[in-house]
Amino acid sequence: MASADQIRLLLVEDVPQVAQYVRGLLNAQSQVRLIDIVSDGTQVLARISEHRPDVIVVDALLQGRLRGMPLVKQLHEARLGVPVIVLTVPQNPVTADPEKGIADVISMPFNGYDLMSRVTGVHKVASAANEKGPSRLVAVFSPKGGTGKTTIAFNVAVAASGMGVHTALVDANIQFGDLRGLIRAPREAPSMLDLPTDRISETDLADVVWRGPADVDILFAPPRIEMAEMVLVRDIEKTISLMRRLYDLVIIDTGVGLDELTLALLDQADTILEIVTYDSTTIRNTIAMAETFQKIGYPPSKVQYLVNRADSNAGIDPADLRQALGREPEYKIRSEGPIVGPASNQGAPFVTSEPNAGVSRDVVEVARQLVGRAAGQARAGQPELAAAR
Ligand SMILES: Nc1ncnc2c1ncn2[C@@H]1O[C@H](COP(=O)(O)OP(=O)(O)OP(=O)(O)O)[C@@H](O)[C@H]1O
Ligand SMILES: [Mg+2]
Repeated sequence: MASADQIRLLLVEDVPQVAQYVRGLLNAQSQVRLIDIVSDGTQVLARISEHRPDVIVVDALLQGRLRGMPLVKQLHEARLGVPVIVLTVPQNPVTADPEKGIADVISMPFNGYDLMSRVTGVHKVASAANEKGPSRLVAVFSPKGGTGKTTIAFNVAVAASGMGVHTALVDANIQFGDLRGLIRAPREAPSMLDLPTDRISETDLADVVWRGPADVDILFAPPRIEMAEMVLVRDIEKTISLMRRLYDLVIIDTGVGLDELTLALLDQADTILEIVTYDSTTIRNTIAMAETFQKIGYPPSKVQYLVNRADSNAGIDPADLRQALGREPEYKIRSEGPIVGPASNQGAPFVTSEPNAGVSRDVVEVARQLVGRAAGQARAGQPELAAAR
């Protein structure tokens, strides 16, 4: 079987005999490939980033700093989209519960058939779910200005593009669009106002987008504030619908507050990436916004929270923020002025100019999770993707 069709399995097991037994079972077939055995729970997330497995098997009785079931919980909360099978013994029963990130359970003793049928079974379910497609349209939003929307939208887009995901970035902050200035594009660079008002074609769009760093295609906001009123919500909606078909991922940098355009874009988005910072106004506005979203009828899963400058909590207890959000935020990005400031001043994405900085690694992780499924598909179909460009 060609290796691209093999199911890539990561085993988390600290008992050498069990690891050896599983290895032996898998060696006898070619459908599933054991890509790594990790014995330390704290190393698992890093190994997942490195190997991108299709299925993970975790020993429920894993010992050490991060034990089996807390690890399963951590993997679930990380929303990796990779199914987890829990390996256990009859004395320690575990129930399969996809809501808790336990896609299936395998209990000792088991044979090769038992193992293979579970691995292929969960993989099939996960692949079917993934076929629904990645979060193609991500609106970066914040109930308050200056929280880092543009910085994050730009760097996440560049990071995603670097992963082989065909990415576009839209500056929908139509009055005070920052992207043109941020990447030092000339004032004459076309904007969304240069698109025809009806029946926008692929060629029209190609003529108007600006090829930015890492081949991210950028659709700029109008170059002058007074031009904003010429932007029609209906036209932008149509443009975004077209972009969603042409790109694997479209990231929208929205304006502040909920005006008609922003609301239309949030409606259209698959995911609202809401930026929160540790300040009491932002937190209050975030609570108010959550109530509004609920009234509009957005499912809670549509919103993902990102705490920017997460390490400077200005005396606010992270537990209070968690309570305000009603859950653990999905993403955190640290504050790193000496990296972010100069990169912004030079118009460079810090994820590529300073790839080893902590803030860059945080952003890459956000991109990886946002496009996890898209990136997986891109990896499998790299030649087609490259040809399509
Ligand atoms: N993680 C970070 N570490 C250090 N500085 C940051 C970080 N995130 C953003 N900044 C800085 O904060 C400032 C505001 O960021 P940015 O312009 O991206 O916010 P915004 O939400 O887009 O603002 P606006 O509401 O005006 O559009 C910028 O100077 C940016 O460089
Ligand atoms: Mg901005």
